[in-house]
Amino acid sequence: MTDRLILGIESSCDETGVGIVRLGPDGSLELLADEVASSVEEHARFGGVVPEVASRAHLEAMAPTMRRALDKSGVELSDVHSIAVTAGPGLAGALLVGVSAAKAFAAALGKPLYGVNHLAGHVAADTLQHGPLPSRCLALLVSGGHSQLLLIENGLASSITEIGSTVDDAAGEAYDKVARLLDLPYPGGPPIDKLARTGNGCAIAFPRGLTGPRDSKYDFSFSGLKTSVARWVERCEAAGEEVPLADVAASFQEAVADVLTSKALRACRDLRVDTLVISGGVAANSRLSGLAAERCASAGVELRVPSPRLCTDNGAMIAALGAHLVAAGAKPSPLDLSTTPGLPV
Ligand code: KG4
Ligand code: ZN
Repeated sequence: MTDRLILGIESSCDETGVGIVRLGPDGSLELLADEVASSVEEHARFGGVVPEVASRAHLEAMAPTMRRALDKSGVELSDVHSIAVTAGPGLAGALLVGVSAAKAFAAALGKPLYGVNHLAGHVAADTLQHGPLPSRCLALLVSGGHSQLLLIENGLASSITEIGSTVDDAAGEAYDKVARLLDLPYPGGPPIDKLARTGNGCAIAFPRGLTGPRDSKYDFSFSGLKTSVARWVERCEAAGEEVPLADVAASFQEAVADVLTSKALRACRDLRVDTLVISGGVAANSRLSGLAAERCASAGVELRVPSPRLCTDNGAMIAALGAHLVAAGAKPSPLDLSTTPGLPV
């Protein structure tokens, strides 16, 4: 069997991504193109993603991003074997742009179409960098829209079980909301991460959501933490004191990293899994990856964190997931594939 080229299209949130992956006869993956156009700056003044603005930006960016991916990789559209696209979860209007584009290419070129799950795509991103997943592993998916713990058995083309998720805000959403409280720009993860480096993570004992003995073992909650930061800032201001910004940022970051890593490692122990993948935009957080590395090392768990470029939304991860489906001989989606904004994993 020869190499097969898989094109991936991502448009679930504010990133228009087109990726191309070469699937080798032995199942190996090679990344040939990973082009992303982001509308994040258009959303910055609103402090969060505005769905209508995101859809329009996808419409404008889709064709040029596709062109760049083809030009940079030297791949001809006619040589593409299959087209994979994010069918959900995500913003309804944003998903429609990517799925419509993918259907148009699949129909015009007569190629198989694979509607795929964005969450599984985040995990697939790691296989581009670190190779195939072991037969059982756990994935901690943390981004602006998701915070989930997934059990993956027998690869990404078969069963994925969600064993925990956030009951309110996603981890990245908490970063974005806290950044707003501290007058830091959107998205809030990078500026909080930077500010936290000059602060003391033990200065303020912010709450660790859902860690009581009767709480759900693997679910997360970040809205109480965000409210606690808001109260802290208000108290300082009411007392006419300067808000210790770096200590607040570091203590908030410590609380998020502590909860995420302790729950993920508890799940590894309970389910006897010895590989943990962390992906999604928040995986770029220095304290999260640092604490995960420490705790995984002492628990004998192998930690896999893809580079930040692959952690955030992109088309390469969708192409990679498409490649896993093609390799497993999965059935393509029908051409009347619809989008599923609330698609579970
Ligand atoms: O995966 P992603 O690009 O998009 C979504 O699917 O949401 O993740 C974006 C999120 C934002 O909330 C952003 O604040 C957060 O990832 N983020 C970070 C860092 N870099 C990005 N959070 C914490 N620390 C970072 N260094
Ligand atoms: Zn995502």
